[in-house]
Amino acid sequence: MKTRMTELFGIKHPIMCGGMMWLCKPDLCAAISNAGALGNITAANYNTGEELRTAIKETREKTDRPFSVNLSLLPSFRITKEMYLEWFNACLAEKVAAFEISGTPVDKFFGPDAIKRGHDAGAKFIHKLGSVRHAVHAEHAGYDAVIAAGVEEGGHPLMDDVTTMVLTPRMAETVKIPVITTGGIADGRTLAAALVLGAEGVMMASRFMATTECRMNHKVKDELVNHQEFDTYLYGKTIGFQGRAMKNQVLTQIQDMEAKHATLNELAPFLSGLRQTAIWDEGDIEAGLVPVGQSIGLIHDVVTCKELVERMVKQAEALLSGSRLK
Ligand SMILES: Cc1cc2nc3c(=O)[nH]c(=O)nc-3n(C[C@H](O)[C@H](O)[C@H](O)COP(=O)(O)O)c2cc1C
Repeated sequence: MKTRMTELFGIKHPIMCGGMMWLCKPDLCAAISNAGALGNITAANYNTGEELRTAIKETREKTDRPFSVNLSLLPSFRITKEMYLEWFNACLAEKVAAFEISGTPVDKFFGPDAIKRGHDAGAKFIHKLGSVRHAVHAEHAGYDAVIAAGVEEGGHPLMDDVTTMVLTPRMAETVKIPVITTGGIADGRTLAAALVLGAEGVMMASRFMATTECRMNHKVKDELVNHQEFDTYLYGKTIGFQGRAMKNQVLTQIQDMEAKHATLNELAPFLSGLRQTAIWDEGDIEAGLVPVGQSIGLIHDVVTCKELVERMVKQAEALLSGSRLK
């Protein structure tokens, strides 16, 4: 399945993993890249540029294939401007294959020469976006590809709330650089649909959580398999920074506080990503917010990354060649 996405990154299958703080680490990243897709190391797992460089080197010991590094240039209680700069410079020094950016565009965050500096170091730039207007900016700034992130996605969907189904063709008809789709993608049917909508491939995050190589407590993987597409909710609209997470007591509490017009300071202790380590390590799904997309409804098993990626591609190819799944 060759597309402009596979050509851009030199990968076999048009599938990539989206950034996931605390989860996108060397083992999972290498397993995804070894499966022929594009793995991901998420910079926010690390406190310094040096720590990130170590993770990149560790990944390279496990795979000789390309992978991307996620830089989330988003509001944070923990991450300072210096940390972002260290991560960016670490990636340039390590000559990473690609940056997956979310939040502020790199040209605005690191300066107008950021993309040229990255290109000179051999990196491609992709920006994850929820609107066509932002994709137009990314194209003008010199990005190599954009990700159309529909409101179905886990993490922080843009408050425009446009679905993957509409955003993908709108972006594909507007920009000339490749469009990759995310939000609601989890199997061969959704991969095939994304390609039909004009995308050059897909990005998934939630689905890669339910793989054997994702280091997290097995109880959370069981929850992913058992929950349905209606078990996630949006939160954070009242503070201008929306997120999607699995329904639990913390999410209900945040929603109740938002209904009573709680301030950012009042909400901050419940939003902190630091609470998530108890979820992933101990399987305590009430410890904090559990970011996950509506694609959770399409997760039916825990398999290896290789099995997942190959099964998706086979199913998509069968559908695109006209044969229907039984
Ligand atoms: C557990 C989890 C953590 C995430 N962390 C980040 C992150 O640190 N940075 C980021 O840009 N996106 C993050 N995201 C969003 C994903 O990269 C991706 O955009 C989104 O989850 C795609 O939707 P899907 O999960 O339905 O595939 C996270 C998503 C999940 C599920």
